[in-house]
Amino acid sequence: MKYLITSALPYANGKLHIGHVAGAYLPADIFVRFLKLNQADVVYICGTDEHGTPISIQADAEGVEPQVIVERYHKLIEDAFKGIDIDFDNFSGTSRPPHYTMSQEFFTALYENKHIHPKDTLQFYCEYDKRFLADRYVEGICPKCGAERARGDQCDACGQIYDTTTLKEPKCKICGNAPVIKATRHWFLHLDGFTDKMKAWIAQKDYWKENVRNFMLNLLEQGLIERSITRDIKWGIPVPLPEAQDKVLYVWFDAPIGYISSTVEWAQRIGQPDRWKDYWHDPETQLIHFIGKDNIIFHALIWPAMLMGQKQTYCLPHDIPANEFMNLEGQKISTSRNWAIWVDEFVQEFDGDYLRWYLATNAPESKDSDFSWKDFQQKVNGELNNVLGNLANRVFAFSQRFFAGKIKAGGNQRGGQSGAGRCLQAGQRD
Ligand code: MF3
Ligand code: ZN
Repeated sequence: MKYLITSALPYANGKLHIGHVAGAYLPADIFVRFLKLNQADVVYICGTDEHGTPISIQADAEGVEPQVIVERYHKLIEDAFKGIDIDFDNFSGTSRPPHYTMSQEFFTALYENKHIHPKDTLQFYCEYDKRFLADRYVEGICPKCGAERARGDQCDACGQIYDTTTLKEPKCKICGNAPVIKATRHWFLHLDGFTDKMKAWIAQKDYWKENVRNFMLNLLEQGLIERSITRDIKWGIPVPLPEAQDKVLYVWFDAPIGYISSTVEWAQRIGQPDRWKDYWHDPETQLIHFIGKDNIIFHALIWPAMLMGQKQTYCLPHDIPANEFMNLEGQKISTSRNWAIWVDEFVQEFDGDYLRWYLATNAPESKDSDFSWKDFQQKVNGELNNVLGNLANRVFAFSQRFFAGKIKAGGNQRGGQSGAGRCLQAGQRD
């Protein structure tokens, strides 16, 4: 069995916080360690998600190129992962040239297979800033659930996505004025064309987590529609059509392709450039995406459709474990309100294993969980250091005293050759 394990690509415009770790990284890292201990054939993939309007907004605000922002955060995020021992086989980034090529190829194949069509659309345009306002350049009231401060393309409160112009009381995020509606041409991925395939696929997924499966069943029930996959901004991957000058691919179109381009990069790095194909082009590969709950629609619907619509066969997600959120002292973690514990700061004060322990035992697996410092202190001192630490200490002390510091390694229950019969020195890791 081959496994391709991915964790959601973090946006390269912010630092890593504990909520990210609890949702998409630590669970995957633990699973990968488990698989590797069992000698499974597994590649663990990640990288930074380097396009999208927030990055270009931040670059505008600082008066630098988006690439400057991207490089800064790529480094910060990568270091934060190292600080807590999250160990990817490859950590790439979606502004690297091979990712551009692959994303354009994906678009072209879908286009030639008639899954993508242009449409003249109405979009918010800011007369003050003289520009079209792509998704996150506008904010308003969610047309689905009524929550305030909903983004142009998706609501944080209900997780649903919608047509931007249905947003109520829209405001331009650059200047705060109400935008007008103007015509512009965009290219759409016709998800409706995948309805039958999608239904048949989901029908086999009775082992999925309920939140993900129900989300999908609900969408299929509502009926699949087309989704715009191009944007009027400069920062992004150019749409590979001569008539789409000045348009780039929507960040959510190119981002998941990053899972593939990062695997390509891995294969090159290990000196076996074709090796990625053994995984991605084998329908039997267990492709597993670890994500937070706000990413369900992209991984369970849009991305599988993009894979289904290619000319070559790709493996489809085998499972999509989406976790709930972790709150901080009873309040939702918020980057904009700076209500978060940043991983890079955490590891300057504490051992990364303390965070791993606390997040693993308090994981937001089936409902939101809470990080509280008091609880953290108690769990780390009580469970990890006292109970587990003591157990380890005694085992090593006894083995030193009675068995000259040599313990017979346990056999591998799956019958592999490693382990059985070998001796480990006390304190040595297998
Ligand atoms: N950057 C997105 C987020 O943080 C996740 C992207 S996952 C991928 O919500 F599929 F696009 F890679
Ligand atoms: Zn404006």
